[in-house]
Amino acid sequence: MNPASSGIPSTIPKGAPPVRHYLQFSDLTADEYSYLLERAAFIKAKFKTFTRHQPLVDRTLAMIFEKASTRTRVSFEAGMYQLGGSVVHLTTGDSQLGRSEPIEDSARVISRMADLVMIRTYEQTKLERFAEYSRVPVINGLTNEFHPCQILADIFTFIEHRGPIQGKTVAWVGDGNNMANTWLQAAKLLDFKVNVSTPSGYEVNEKVAVSPAGISADHYESYSDPKAACAGADLVTTDVWTSMGYEAENEVRKQAFAAWRVSTDMMAVAKPDALFMHCLPAHRGEEVDADVIDGPQSVVWDEAENRMHVQKALMEYLMMGRQK
Ligand code: CP
Ligand code: NVA
Repeated sequence: MNPASSGIPSTIPKGAPPVRHYLQFSDLTADEYSYLLERAAFIKAKFKTFTRHQPLVDRTLAMIFEKASTRTRVSFEAGMYQLGGSVVHLTTGDSQLGRSEPIEDSARVISRMADLVMIRTYEQTKLERFAEYSRVPVINGLTNEFHPCQILADIFTFIEHRGPIQGKTVAWVGDGNNMANTWLQAAKLLDFKVNVSTPSGYEVNEKVAVSPAGISADHYESYSDPKAACAGADLVTTDVWTSMGYEAENEVRKQAFAAWRVSTDMMAVAKPDALFMHCLPAHRGEEVDADVIDGPQSVVWDEAENRMHVQKALMEYLMMGRQK
């Protein structure tokens, strides 16, 4: 997009670098993740010591939710205020998005008033279309295909508890969904391994996750037995059996996923110091036993909190680039 072609003066400074979006995990390089993870630790430390860090004063984040959310909304909203900026919250039900205004027109308009846009929607292609017509960075707050902000928080949380994730093994037990796809991208980029076990018919779609180059056996292995996937793992993680948008399949899925509940038996075959994570919301007695999610190996509350810290680093980076 060439803002000048509209005839309206642009607020984008002349010579500004091209807009960077965060639509999937693979949109950033390993080197950028290394910076972002360190920056998130720095920003978190500032917050914890009541030290103001407000690089985004006068900037506005527009958040568009076409699906429900607790963590994503609160973490982005609180995070943006802490950075000195403001937030506008839109949903399908209370905006023209729900009344068939083209996504391209919405992108053109919203990105003239907001400095950053976070979107939670259905198809990844919808997010991509918005980004194509946006003058400002667009962040994926979850699509059917990917949930990159969550995996960024998960990796940050792992590092906080156990050090570098490179060379480690993550066991994914459950649905081959947006979270699983994103774990595959992260494993490939940051050089760790994901053991994935899903029921038959719910496998990860590698074409969606890591197309076109694929992923090597060093970074991804598929298991039919969930316990085998957990053997020797440094981190065991799962997610709901039925993601948002798939509610009609709920009963069928409950049958299919019955053996994919993370239990203390599964945790027992992982490394003795293995962590348990879940992006939340969780259903105790479905994808995870209460003994596990409420047990000593679980770091789910740190994981949830860290959404805010990593997203603050991400927003700062997309808007301002690397800071000293
Ligand atoms: N984990 C996560 O994205 O949670 P919400 O659906 O509550 O935003
Ligand atoms: N896979 C889940 C994640 C929720 C945060 C979903 O898409 O509903």
